[in-house]
Amino acid sequence: MKLTVYGGRHLFGEITVDGAKNAALPLLAATLLTDDDVLLENVPDVGDVRTMIALLESVGKRVRALSPGVLSVRTERDLTGAPPDSLVRRLRASFLLLGPLMARVGASQLPLPGGCPIGVRPVDLHLKGLKALGAQLESVGPFWHAHAGSLHPAEIHLDYPSVGATEQIMMTAALIPGRTVISNPAQDPEVHDLARLLIKMGAGIMIEPGRLQIEGAARLQGTTHTVIPDRITAGTFLIAGAIAGGDVTVHCQPLHLEALLSKLDELGIIVQEHVESVRVVSDGPGSFSGGRVEARPYPGFPTDLQPQMMALLSVARGASVVKETVWESRFAHATELARMGAQIRLEGPTALIEGVAQLSGTEVHATDVRAGAALTLAGIAAAGTTIVLDRDGHIGRGHRDLAGELNRLGAAIISEEEQTLEEKKEVASTEIR
Ligand code: EPZ
Repeated sequence: MKLTVYGGRHLFGEITVDGAKNAALPLLAATLLTDDDVLLENVPDVGDVRTMIALLESVGKRVRALSPGVLSVRTERDLTGAPPDSLVRRLRASFLLLGPLMARVGASQLPLPGGCPIGVRPVDLHLKGLKALGAQLESVGPFWHAHAGSLHPAEIHLDYPSVGATEQIMMTAALIPGRTVISNPAQDPEVHDLARLLIKMGAGIMIEPGRLQIEGAARLQGTTHTVIPDRITAGTFLIAGAIAGGDVTVHCQPLHLEALLSKLDELGIIVQEHVESVRVVSDGPGSFSGGRVEARPYPGFPTDLQPQMMALLSVARGASVVKETVWESRFAHATELARMGAQIRLEGPTALIEGVAQLSGTEVHATDVRAGAALTLAGIAAAGTTIVLDRDGHIGRGHRDLAGELNRLGAAIISEEEQTLEEKKEVASTEIR
């Protein structure tokens, strides 16, 4: 994929975000916990969700789209516990299947998720939780094998409020009669959305600050559930309005974006919060001040908006500091922004930014879904044309149609499937004949 972004554009208008990718993925995994039908609404049509659907079908589920965003998940055959490597390696969140499949089938096997541009992505907290619940875990080569043995409720403390580990433990404990308690769980809205689904399926879940309690049941039933709006996509469009300049209204859940809204306001950008939408008004580069952003676990500033924020601060007045405390190497986009003229110095987990009056379009590489979005936003505000090369299709894993949605707000972006070298040779050879 390649995005050609024509710069110097202002953005105006309204946009409604799709369902949250990072809620839809655990919600889809949770359908494994019952043989009954589950209906999910407002499911985003993005690459990662399509991969999760393929994973569910590979272990015995049948997933049908009844209408755009409405998925019916049914059981087609007895579940099996070992989804194919080819699918698992495409999606980091596939590790969420380990516990639910083990609880349903008695045993499951998944390859250790590969690394990725933002960090090593360990799973020790997932494994600690499953072991506490009575799972027998064994690593065989690149695989983790989980055997149910005799599962039992447990009290589990997470050294770090890991989103995935919290979701893995919640889903597995939901099928274990008795009370499991997670202390220091992730508090993200997507975790709360999963809790709401599990409650509808028959588990009892109570969430307090620093504590999440699950009353499991031997059997869970089918239900219907609507996915919450995507707070990261919403934040991306709000930052797009701020960096490009203009007047943009995003229909979303403002309560999930407090850290971002407060930060934009602190920089001097006009932010109007309504019940189900947020409006941003900005004069673009140079019209807001720099500041300090620290990416932390929810409700702190979201790490998934850190790249987009770095693009914004690159054209703020004065100096800024961005500290990334969630992932150990999530600054690859800084190098790409610097190629556009941003003044950024990296010191370990901290980026020191000196705002410039304007960025200049050039060719940049998308290293992950959020970096790709950040570079696209930078291109809209930059002078000239920016080519965002996205060979691995990162942007499409998290956005249904980023270019199309930004164009509806006034951007000028051409997105094209980039021809591989082989395809170019093929075209050249056919032209010669
Ligand atoms: C989820 O990843 C999101 N993905 C990520 O979004 C997001 O960046 C992250 O939460 C933090 O908010 C999905 O929900 C599918 P973590 P997850 O477990 O669950 C360490 C995107 O762009 N850790 O909270 O993998 C880990 O190394 C993606 O949509 C352990 O040490 O995140 C990291 O430093 C990128 N041991 C930190 O916790 C573990 O067992 C956060 O990880 C697990 C995690």
